[in-house]
Amino acid sequence: MQTHEIRERFLRHFEANGHTRVPSASLILDDPNLLFVNAGMVQFKPYFLGEVPPPYPRATSVQKCVRTGDIDEVGKTTRHNTFFQMAGNFSFGDYFKEGAIAQAWDLVTKPQSEGGYGFDPKRIWTTVYNDDAESARLWQSVAGLPPERIQYRDATDNYWDMGVAGPGGPCSEIYYDRGPEYGREGGPVVDEDRYLEIWNLVFMQDIRGDGSPKDGYPVLGELPSKNIDTGLGVERVAFLLQGVDNVYETDLVRPVIDKAEELSGRTYGENHADDVRFRVIADHARSGVMLIGDGVTPGNEARGYVLRRLLRRIVRSVRLLGVHEAVLPEFAAVVRDAMSPSYPEIARDFERISDVMRIEEETFLATLSSGSKIFDAAAERTKRAGSAVLPGDKAFQLHDTYGFPIDLTLEMAAEQGLKVDEDGFRTLMEEQRQRAKADAAARKSGHGDLSEYRSLLDTHGETEFLGYTDLEAGCRVIGLLSGGASVPRLGEGERGELVLDRTPFYAESGGQIADTGTLYGSGTQVRVHDVQKIVPGLSVHRVEVVAGEVGLDDKLTGSVDSDRRLSIARSHSATHLVHAAVRGAYGQRAAQAGSLNSPGRMRFDFTSPGAVSADVLTEVEEEVNEYLLQDTPVESYVTSKDKAFELGAIALFGEKYGNQVRVIDMGEYSRELCGGTHVDRIGQLGLVKLVSDSSIGSGVHRIEALVGTDALRHVRKEQLLVSELANTFKVPTDQLPDRISDVLGRLRDAEKEIERLRTERILASAGTLAAGAEDVDGVAVVAEKVTEDIDAQAARSLASEVRNRLGSRPSVVALFLPDGQKVSFVIGTNAAARDKGLAAGELVRSVSEAVDGRGGGKADMAQGGGTNPAGIDEAIGMLRRAVRDGVA
Ligand code: SER
Repeated sequence: MQTHEIRERFLRHFEANGHTRVPSASLILDDPNLLFVNAGMVQFKPYFLGEVPPPYPRATSVQKCVRTGDIDEVGKTTRHNTFFQMAGNFSFGDYFKEGAIAQAWDLVTKPQSEGGYGFDPKRIWTTVYNDDAESARLWQSVAGLPPERIQYRDATDNYWDMGVAGPGGPCSEIYYDRGPEYGREGGPVVDEDRYLEIWNLVFMQDIRGDGSPKDGYPVLGELPSKNIDTGLGVERVAFLLQGVDNVYETDLVRPVIDKAEELSGRTYGENHADDVRFRVIADHARSGVMLIGDGVTPGNEARGYVLRRLLRRIVRSVRLLGVHEAVLPEFAAVVRDAMSPSYPEIARDFERISDVMRIEEETFLATLSSGSKIFDAAAERTKRAGSAVLPGDKAFQLHDTYGFPIDLTLEMAAEQGLKVDEDGFRTLMEEQRQRAKADAAARKSGHGDLSEYRSLLDTHGETEFLGYTDLEAGCRVIGLLSGGASVPRLGEGERGELVLDRTPFYAESGGQIADTGTLYGSGTQVRVHDVQKIVPGLSVHRVEVVAGEVGLDDKLTGSVDSDRRLSIARSHSATHLVHAAVRGAYGQRAAQAGSLNSPGRMRFDFTSPGAVSADVLTEVEEEVNEYLLQDTPVESYVTSKDKAFELGAIALFGEKYGNQVRVIDMGEYSRELCGGTHVDRIGQLGLVKLVSDSSIGSGVHRIEALVGTDALRHVRKEQLLVSELANTFKVPTDQLPDRISDVLGRLRDAEKEIERLRTERILASAGTLAAGAEDVDGVAVVAEKVTEDIDAQAARSLASEVRNRLGSRPSVVALFLPDGQKVSFVIGTNAAARDKGLAAGELVRSVSEAVDGRGGGKADMAQGGGTNPAGIDEAIGMLRRAVRDGVA
């Protein structure tokens, strides 16, 4: 049975049982605790927690998931995928254990001809949580499972939570016995390879704090209702139903292996080492495509780093299969063909996805070739020194300078039988991170312990934002914190954090920086410096009490700095217009990769298929400014996500969960999902001036622009500069370019002329110097102080010219150039002198002492420098003596 069919059967089964089919959420749902969505329940978390009333009592989905905790296991076991699809059914306070067990059993064992998976009921085993006798009973009564195929396990195996504070509950897992050829008898407690877990039914009833019941921490309390969250591993069911050996050989993954066979000329299934590489390629290529599809771009931190690591592991594996050309786009195309029937957006967005992969591969191949040389040299040195551990600073250098992820260094070291001093590496990394973060951390949350914020959110709900319409509003203090902990009050001069029930202040998000302003009460004045959503939904105001004091429940009036806000709004609106224009120029592939909207200035990052030409940027600027003249009104409205997409609204990656979305329209020209604040009419922007564009790596391009009066000031400044230049050059401004290039041309000619004259003069003095040579024991010696202003290069030319003029007799030329408190010198010898044992380098060393200097060089020409010009005469004397003594 094909994977798409397995998904579809699951969804249809639960739809027939009253569930609403819900599409998969993006892999990068906005949850600060999760790098990637790793389970089907993540998008439903607010319903489980009772934060938002569920719009349906039952739901079913097939969720895209990424888990990279076991990345090193990929390809080595039968069942580890970094990307996988989790099919789930969810009940929000509706049915509980019995319903979950009955519906799962039905789908698993119903004959395929009747829409089920048709697994042999006699091969099904289950596990239940230690004290969950109820579930064990249900498995017998509802499914007719004999007690010997129901096993009890403790929290480590049969309690499920998100790995962070949140909902959780005991669970019951369904296993399929693959048969005696795959391992020992005795059920899942004995062998999890033979007995393969296919489905986890979680009886979601608990709310837990930071420690997990798995680690012996007690449960904090009960969820508002009893829920069901289940997860069936689609890939696992596929590999069982397709009769293949592992998750890498199913219909959706195997084609990549085939492609890798074709490219490498090697055959899958011949040797274990290669097989692991084939499987790593197949697994990672799929994860890479799906992640890029959801807006992740390769980078050095967090999500971007995981993606980079996956892509780079593919490139490495491919090389180990003997292929040295760039291959990622070819694998990406195979993944597209396999995945797009279920995920059509992958086909739609394929050009961009393929571009991101191509660029990352090119970058990495360049990195690999330079870094590998450094690595090989370091490995060689380590071995020569009799050590088996590559030093941490080498690993750090490879990372820092050549972009080698540490795991790549580890892998390459392991291939050479070496270990890496990982502790040393991490210490250096940490030091670097601390340096870089010192500044940013102060602004962002930086709080390890978020429990106070969470409990405020639990008690009071989300902060109501009034600032779309009101820049001044009354509000009440519902939380006061200092350093992440609650405090009863903040006194005059103190800094801390305020949480308000409602606020006109915009909290930094979506690239728009936070509002600043003041909160007033009777006798109280509080300055708001920053507002951050430290946990989603909760605006935390970073404040300083200027006068009076502030306490819990105080009523204050918040007043946003309105000029600044308007200026930020102009930037944000400009960003939307620039985005629209860039898309107009490059099409869909130019996806927004980040933005920053601050007063008067905007920054817009986008992935670009190649170099971005200056012409295009000029067009973007022109188009945006022409559009401003139409003074289109800016409309904002809230609508359903589906409706917004129907209208063609651009969604940014990682858009927050929610069926209702806010849309910003600027006529038909620009329509985006956005929570930010904007101007009322685009004419208010005045002017949008692009001031810089650059590439910030990995195919991401950055445009910066000034907006409104800042743009005007910029233009005026440039204009002033131009008129100053025109004054200086005494021509009208339009003749400036010609005039400047004319002046530069003449300057270049003049420099050449000066150089020629200088050489002539030097050569002329060479004649005089050579004529003054004295004979020291049969060696012609010129040793002189040169007071002309010549540089070291000219001094060497002069010395060598004097040496030429002295002919073939043994000769030594030494020139000393005093320069204030310093002296430099150069000594040259010819072949006949060198035959007599007179080497320039040695001579330099033997005279250095006299001028408090040092130096060295080759036998024919050497130089030095010192700090005692008064010792020049003595140095000359020493040189004569050295020649006489025949210094060797
Ligand atoms: N949340 C559970 C899991 O991830 C069941 O969906 O296994």
